[in-house]
Amino acid sequence: MAKTTKIFKGLDGVVVDETAISQVMPRTNSLTYRGYAVQELCERCCFEEVAYLLWYGELPTRYQLSNFKKNERRRRKISRNHLAVIQRFPKRAHPMDTIRTSVSYLGTTEIAWGGEPAEADMERSMNLFSKIPTMIATDYRLRKGKRRIEPRSDLSYSENFLYMCFGRVPPRRVVKAFDISLILYAEHSFNASTFATRVVTSTMSDIYSSVTAGIGALKGPLHGGANEAVMNMLLEIGHPDRAEAWLRDAFRSKKVVMGFGHRVYKWGDSRVPTMRGCLEDLALWKNDHKWIEIEDVLEKIMAEEKKIYPNLDYPAGPAYYMMGFDIDMYTPIFVMSRITGWTAHCMEQNAANRLIRPLSSYTGVKQRRVKPIAKR
Ligand SMILES: CC(C)(COP(=O)(O)OP(=O)(O)OC[C@H]1O[C@@H](n2cnc3c(N)ncnc32)[C@H](O)[C@@H]1OP(=O)(O)O)[C@@H](O)C(=O)NCCC(=O)NCCS
Repeated sequence: MAKTTKIFKGLDGVVVDETAISQVMPRTNSLTYRGYAVQELCERCCFEEVAYLLWYGELPTRYQLSNFKKNERRRRKISRNHLAVIQRFPKRAHPMDTIRTSVSYLGTTEIAWGGEPAEADMERSMNLFSKIPTMIATDYRLRKGKRRIEPRSDLSYSENFLYMCFGRVPPRRVVKAFDISLILYAEHSFNASTFATRVVTSTMSDIYSSVTAGIGALKGPLHGGANEAVMNMLLEIGHPDRAEAWLRDAFRSKKVVMGFGHRVYKWGDSRVPTMRGCLEDLALWKNDHKWIEIEDVLEKIMAEEKKIYPNLDYPAGPAYYMMGFDIDMYTPIFVMSRITGWTAHCMEQNAANRLIRPLSSYTGVKQRRVKPIAKR
């Protein structure tokens, strides 16, 4: 009799490797980056400090941060050839497809292999980190038939991106909410896209190929694409009075309710309260409370009847909407944050590499002989 093999569909519950980058603790509803609670990082640090922390393992001193910022700011421009590639993207292409291709293009401009010294990958990580916002914002403006805006080196990472998209730096509270969203999205252990980057790295491929794979994985609505799906859902509901009926209909038709549930957090997502605070602040600023009111109705019923709780994408979707972004920009914004976590994982994987190659249990037809074509 055939021995039964236990299958861990979706690798659910499987520990595949060690990491020192972040720790997700579902029981205590907490998340730390290199040992620091993410809420405290949001309160006390800017996104650049968090990027430094993820890559180097420690928070920077004032001097280190100043050098780090200078280094990031001087790389922001993209080449003329790169600009020509972005100009040729179909105007209706999804920005996740254009940023995936843009990152892949950057990889063609230098010869890189995996397993290289950490300094070389750190250099490439900084290049990706610094140029990705320019790639996204340039594509955003050109797609809308607007003049592209060159990056500025006197602005922070978040300010500069908002400036390149909107042509001005928004009020401080908007910049702060945006910066916090980048910190919250930066890293989350072995999620699907990070795992994809580690799988590619494990074959001793290069960091651009790994990040390109990560972007592809992030695009899906069960992962990063959920922040866009949440806002589309809120727009479809349209008014708090319609929220309950919409949800009951979703239950009846067994629809997945976007922005709820998580593979690891079964009792709530530790990042939600901080992002919810930002959302409330943005609602006050815009004097527009409709989206929060709709969300409150859905959240209450989901908790009471399904015991399923919101994830980070739930407050992030309407927050980006109130900042003025087109909906298809939300997941690319996630990319410009998660690039820090992905590249940290590529370097960690390289430092102690073993090819990632799981097994499968075969369920197809038994071995058979090939018939000559005339007899099939
Ligand atoms: C994230 C997600 C894929 C995690 O899925 P998972 O760990 O595989 O959990 P499961 O799909 O096994 O969910 C367990 C149960 O909860 C239900 N469930 C989970 N998330 C749900 C949601 N968002 N809406 C409705 N039901 C949901 C499942 O249908 C399943 O019910 P069942 O046991 O009756 O079949 C899932 O929660 C989801 O699709 N959420 C919506 C997309 C989203 O917001 N993604 C962003 C994640 S950060």
